[in-house]
Amino acid sequence: MEIPTPLMAISDPLFDRYRVKVWVKRDDLNHPHIQGNKWHKLKFNLDAAKLQRKTTLITFGGAYSNHIAATAYAAKEAGLKSIGLIRGEELAASPHTWSHTLKQAVDNGMALEFLTRQVYRLRDDPDFLLDLQQRYPDAYLLPEGGSNELAIQGFESLMTEIEQQCPQWDTLFTPVGTGATFAGLVRYALARANRKINGVAVLKQADYLLPSIRKWVGIPPAVAWQMLTDYHAGGYGKITPELQQLKQRFEAQFSIPLDPVYSIKMVAAFYDQLQRGEIPPHSKVILLHTGGLQGNALQQGTDSTTL
Ligand SMILES: Cc1ncc(COP(=O)(O)O)c(C=O)c1O
Repeated sequence: MEIPTPLMAISDPLFDRYRVKVWVKRDDLNHPHIQGNKWHKLKFNLDAAKLQRKTTLITFGGAYSNHIAATAYAAKEAGLKSIGLIRGEELAASPHTWSHTLKQAVDNGMALEFLTRQVYRLRDDPDFLLDLQQRYPDAYLLPEGGSNELAIQGFESLMTEIEQQCPQWDTLFTPVGTGATFAGLVRYALARANRKINGVAVLKQADYLLPSIRKWVGIPPAVAWQMLTDYHAGGYGKITPELQQLKQRFEAQFSIPLDPVYSIKMVAAFYDQLQRGEIPPHSKVILLHTGGLQGNALQQGTDSTTL
């Protein structure tokens, strides 16, 4: 049973000036360790792994991947072993340089294997995956970011919850990494006039994600959607002084913690779109907080170019 997370109304004279109402969907509060979108993505995959009597979860990620941390914890909780295939073979020899995320994953029982960037690029290659499956026949393979069809289906309950808490919403903002979360929300949103879901890409040149997002959305959705690609602030894991300031101001004003990789860029996109007049007056806007708060332990200035 999933307990609904709060939908928090936030107010600011700026929102009044543009005559919009704004809520933050606090999905960061849905689970202490498998936070936000990670829980939705993993829940049906865990069921499938158990149904197929698999004993191990294997997945892919970078050194700062929230998905790696979440998978390690979820596997432990489900009584499964876990293996993380991590981008960057140089990390194998220097455990003292491991990110908080990797250390946390190991503490939760995940075994790590480090791949060269060349091998890591094969993470979706059918032959590579077949070989991996043959090497680990008892393993359930999860793609990078946990983004697959079962992950998308995991967002139906979240969308239903949002519809129940705020049936009159018409604009929704969500961060985009692989695009699976965004696609899941688009797939399950109900038809209403003038509804739009905005996915905010947190990585550079994210247009390459569009074909997989379209595939995941499936049949033409009932709502309009667009991916905003100008709010990456220089790339994945990059944050500018302006974003840092906005993060601090937002956190102090609304007592809502943001993560430095995903939710801050989503919030920045909302403010910019509002001030550009892209959000019509009387709109009812939902900002989806997808969690990732463990990313606040992220060291600045380090290589974090993989989800
Ligand atoms: C906290 C957080 N929010 C949003 C996303 C983006 O999700 P997706 O990869 O489904 O686009 C991720 C992971 O990628 C994440 O860790």
